[in-house]
Amino acid sequence: MKAAWIADAAGGDLSIRVGETDAPAHAEDRLLVNIDAVGLTFGEPAWVTNGTLALPDGSKRPLPVIIGHEFAGRVAHVGAATSGFAVGDRVVGLIDFWRNGAAAEQASVLSGEITGLPDAVSAVEAATLPIGALTAWQALFDFAALKAGETVLIHGGAGAVGTFAIQIAKGIGARVIATARGGEATGLCRELGADVVIDTTAERFEDVAGPVDVVFDTVGHDLLERSWQFVRPGARLVTISGEAEDAPSPERAKQLGIEAFWFIVKPDPAQLAEIVRWVADGRITVQVDRAYRLDEARQAFLEADSRAKRGKTVLTV
Ligand SMILES: NC(=O)c1ccc[n+]([C@@H]2O[C@H](COP(=O)([O-])OP(=O)(O)OC[C@H]3O[C@@H](n4cnc5c(N)ncnc54)[C@H](OP(=O)(O)O)[C@@H]3O)[C@@H](O)[C@H]2O)c1
Repeated sequence: MKAAWIADAAGGDLSIRVGETDAPAHAEDRLLVNIDAVGLTFGEPAWVTNGTLALPDGSKRPLPVIIGHEFAGRVAHVGAATSGFAVGDRVVGLIDFWRNGAAAEQASVLSGEITGLPDAVSAVEAATLPIGALTAWQALFDFAALKAGETVLIHGGAGAVGTFAIQIAKGIGARVIATARGGEATGLCRELGADVVIDTTAERFEDVAGPVDVVFDTVGHDLLERSWQFVRPGARLVTISGEAEDAPSPERAKQLGIEAFWFIVKPDPAQLAEIVRWVADGRITVQVDRAYRLDEARQAFLEADSRAKRGKTVLTV
């Protein structure tokens, strides 16, 4: 089958290759899915060198590693020990990060990684959800416990995760302040429903935003550090930027009287099904920045840094 993979341990965009490889084997506890679309994570080549691709026992993963962990497709084979899905079902899902991804004609998945996909949601739209939207969902609800009437400051509101975070927070009745860079990005945040939008190229968020209950940071670095100095006691600060070693210090959070979290998104079919319902009934609109073909995977990575991205980049298979 055709697939896109990380070919060498140097990592980086140049390590992406597209070619022929073996299709995944049948297994009793797995389903095989014919992939229609897969969401791209441009930081993925760096996972080779930063340890994200380690196996669960901590050992180094042998290369090549097929990229792209969020996908939409159709069930092609069901293992005897799986339940809930039949051949031909449209599905969307998130493959655990330490296994081969879905930038391929076929992928091997667990039933606990997928949920059904109604016809109302296209494969390209769906492929943006299991990392983009699910990360926003888990950050806002599982970690920040955001509630209607609260105010959330979202850093990176025009990004793949940020565009979903704005809409999900507004969807439950929260007030949203979003940061973004430049006129096009700030315009998108407004279109998505943000109540206050701050262009960080022109102003400091601290000078515009009043007290907030929650900060959801998708940018890191200076914005994250300044957010620590900005939040008030009782607030929740959630960041997804960086790696485990960059996770917020519990001691610092305790001193400030806040709660602070860093996490990695986990497959959750029930949450994903709820997100799919929100997309199907129009409560969330999906921002697809660009769709490349599987053949163009390397080109997609090479071009990523030189263009402004609004939402998610997808490969179609
Ligand atoms: N831990 C997890 O489970 C998890 C899950 C998903 C993603 N992530 C990580 O989270 C981060 C965001 O992911 P993503 O897919 O949303 O990336 P993305 O699509 O590149 O979005 C990041 C957004 O932040 C904006 N930004 C950068 N610097 C900014 C600043 N100073 N002020 C305001 N906006 C700024 C970017 O704008 P420009 O276009 O101008 O650069 C872009 O719109 C990445 O580091 C990714 O690896 C982690």
